[in-house]
Amino acid sequence: MLTRMNTLANPQARTYAASLGRSGRRPPSRHLRARPTAHAPHGESVTTRNGDELVLRSIHPDDVDALQRGFAHLTPEEVRMRFLHPLTELPEPLAQRLCNLDAETELAFVLADPPGVREPEIHAVSRAHIDPVTLAAEFALVVQGRYKGQGFGTLLMQRLIAACRARGALEMWGDVLLENGAMLELCHDLGFSRQSHLRGDPGVVRVTLDLCESAIK
Ligand SMILES: CC(C)(COP(=O)(O)OP(=O)(O)OC[C@H]1O[C@@H](n2cnc3c(N)ncnc32)[C@H](O)[C@@H]1OP(=O)(O)O)[C@@H](O)C(=O)NCCC(=O)NCCS
Repeated sequence: MLTRMNTLANPQARTYAASLGRSGRRPPSRHLRARPTAHAPHGESVTTRNGDELVLRSIHPDDVDALQRGFAHLTPEEVRMRFLHPLTELPEPLAQRLCNLDAETELAFVLADPPGVREPEIHAVSRAHIDPVTLAAEFALVVQGRYKGQGFGTLLMQRLIAACRARGALEMWGDVLLENGAMLELCHDLGFSRQSHLRGDPGVVRVTLDLCESAIK
């Protein structure tokens, strides 16, 4: 049985056997459709396809309620892809942990409603945990269904990659379900390599990015 790290990036990681849904890879394509439109003091302003104004910024401790509200709008499938584990709700202690980062080893970017919204939501998150010994950063990413396919996953990953590199991380890695064609393509487009199947876990692919060699795409 494969043993995986139980880190902030994948706090409830477990394994799933799954079959490959997509095998084809497209060449790197037009990034980014979702371009930041302005630099705000507390993040970057982005406009979604339907005209919503959101903010891309680091997560902060006050985001607990917004993170829980955002989680409630994920489908069970999106949750399973993100956590590799069926989670029916985001318990408050876990939400607290995800919003209160260890400044030395953890980073997280969110796509959030702007200040002033009455019940703000976190609509997407990219996060990483840098192992202080190996300087390898484990990442995780999720984008709510209504904002998918607009380049936000790519944008959040690009911010995360740049921040991990700035922190001195040497490599980024993540475990992705083999059936998760969207995430595998996104990682491929960003220059990640696919490792062979993890031993004992044929449904999971490890993707890695050498931060020493890769340029920001
Ligand atoms: C995977 C996920 C993060 C993608 O987010 P996104 O914001 O839609 O991604 P982007 O719009 O930046 O798309 C980037 C690339 O991903 C791929 N992609 C995105 N959605 C796809 C889909 N439905 N089918 C196939 N490929 C898709 C494409 O290669 C796309 O590039 P292109 O359209 O420019 O060619 C999002 O679908 C998600 O949150 N899924 C559930 C959680 C999850 O799987 N997390 C990953 C675990 S680490």
